[in-house]
Amino acid sequence: MPDAPPAIEAVGLRKTYGKREVLRGLDLTVPRGTVHALLGPNGAGKTTIVRILATLTEADAGTAKVAGYDVRTERARARRAISLTGQFAAVDEMQTAAENLRMMARLARTSGPARTSRAAARARAAELLDRFDLAAATDRLVKTYSGGMRRRLDLAASLVGQPDVVFLDEPTTGLDPRGRQELWSVVRELAARGTTVFLTTQYLEEADRLADRIAVLHGGELVAQGTSEELKSRVAGHRLDVVLADPAAYLRLAPRAAYSEPETRTLGFPTDGGAPQVRALLDALDPDGTAIERFSLHTATLDDVFLTLTKPAHREPNHV
Ligand SMILES: Nc1ncnc2c1ncn2[C@@H]1O[C@H](COP(=O)(O)OP(=O)(O)OP(=O)(O)O)[C@@H](O)[C@H]1O
Ligand SMILES: [Mg+2]
Repeated sequence: MPDAPPAIEAVGLRKTYGKREVLRGLDLTVPRGTVHALLGPNGAGKTTIVRILATLTEADAGTAKVAGYDVRTERARARRAISLTGQFAAVDEMQTAAENLRMMARLARTSGPARTSRAAARARAAELLDRFDLAAATDRLVKTYSGGMRRRLDLAASLVGQPDVVFLDEPTTGLDPRGRQELWSVVRELAARGTTVFLTTQYLEEADRLADRIAVLHGGELVAQGTSEELKSRVAGHRLDVVLADPAAYLRLAPRAAYSEPETRTLGFPTDGGAPQVRALLDALDPDGTAIERFSLHTATLDDVFLTLTKPAHREPNHV
């Protein structure tokens, strides 16, 4: 489908709650079949974006299309093409897992993008229960489930209808390491089959491993977008960490650092990692050679990118 529209196309999205401008004119394009991660600190507006794209909240201004449908004027069609797993589980507590998934399968059969037979929907439900390690608990009431089990069931339920675009709002919050791995492999499989996945996460590692592209939301704007490699290369290739000899030296140099760890009197500074720059940096920070006790050099991580881009005063144009 060379002419198929992008999975998500948003232009100039704005949203204000009371006096708080949560989104200040946000543009976003997500190609089909890709995994896109949205990163941002607490309260940045990640859930707000997901809710607007999933037709649950209306933007004050701007337009958004999902799977080619305008979320405002073609809401019903947009809804049929997507699934949403929110920060909080949406399954029915007074039913068993199997009943929940059968209900989802019935809904998917009558309204989903791929109208499937009853047998196919049941088979898919069984496969998903197995996939998310819930097969043994299939006939238990959901109210007896642990938080992690509910989360997995919620994800399974959202995938029954084989949506074109899947929204996952902090999908691995509350999952143990094994549940997280399982979710990651499901996300990869979805993408390999051509499903578009739009996820929010607080885990940089998750974005790094899963996402084709990452957008960083800060101050109501996307302060950076790109692959994790592009974002990392943007900050500086390396970080020089220095451990200061005493608290006074730490406090003196802290305002110049990109990264700080008071407990260990460690400060981090971006550098290209080359000897001339590292030597010059050490000399500039510590001309007498008394303030710095030790140093170490690290390859920049997505954490460094995130910390640099979401520093309170930071503002940059919308593109890489
Ligand atoms: N319905 C609402 N009414 C008023 N304020 C709201 C509403 N929904 C969100 N907000 C505010 O908008 C801002 C963004 O909230 P949002 O939930 O989108 O952030 P988030 O990035 O998802 O945060 P978190 O990482 O904690 O999930 C916050 O300041 C929040 O308090
Ligand atoms: Mg949120």
